[in-house]
Amino acid sequence: MKITIGISKENRQKSADLLNTLLADENVLYAKTRNFHWNITGDNFYGLHILLEKQYKELDVIVDDTAERIRQLGHFAVGTMTDYLKLTHLLEVNHADLTARTMLEILVNDHETIIRILRKDVIKEEACQDSGTADFATTLLEKHEKMAWMLRSHLS
Ligand SMILES: [Fe+2]
Repeated sequence: MKITIGISKENRQKSADLLNTLLADENVLYAKTRNFHWNITGDNFYGLHILLEKQYKELDVIVDDTAERIRQLGHFAVGTMTDYLKLTHLLEVNHADLTARTMLEILVNDHETIIRILRKDVIKEEACQDSGTADFATTLLEKHEKMAWMLRSHLS
């Protein structure tokens, strides 16, 4: 059925493209956070293990909400690891030989990358008259700012 929500077809396409790239970034960060939850070591193992579990669960919800936002705009959500790795701005890393500090620095950098991209996306989405997606991206930006703060606070 035709979608008539007051956003042009062209603008819905632009928002969906931004969201699919975001979906790729969120999936890569989810996998990386879960990897480090399993493989982090050191004096503060248990606290970091629990913190990373909390964050990968939060990212799991974000992944689902992002994919469903794309569907609400009448587009399909990217769903394969191959496509995520093609679209993402983030790099995968192997956990081998990484200290806990390095793992936390990597995650902070990834959250900050997503935050900077979201800040630009919000402006583009507003230009597309897509206030729903702009609001969604703003809320997400704040969630990433909080997760980045939680991680960064271990590094001072
Ligand atoms: Fe676990």
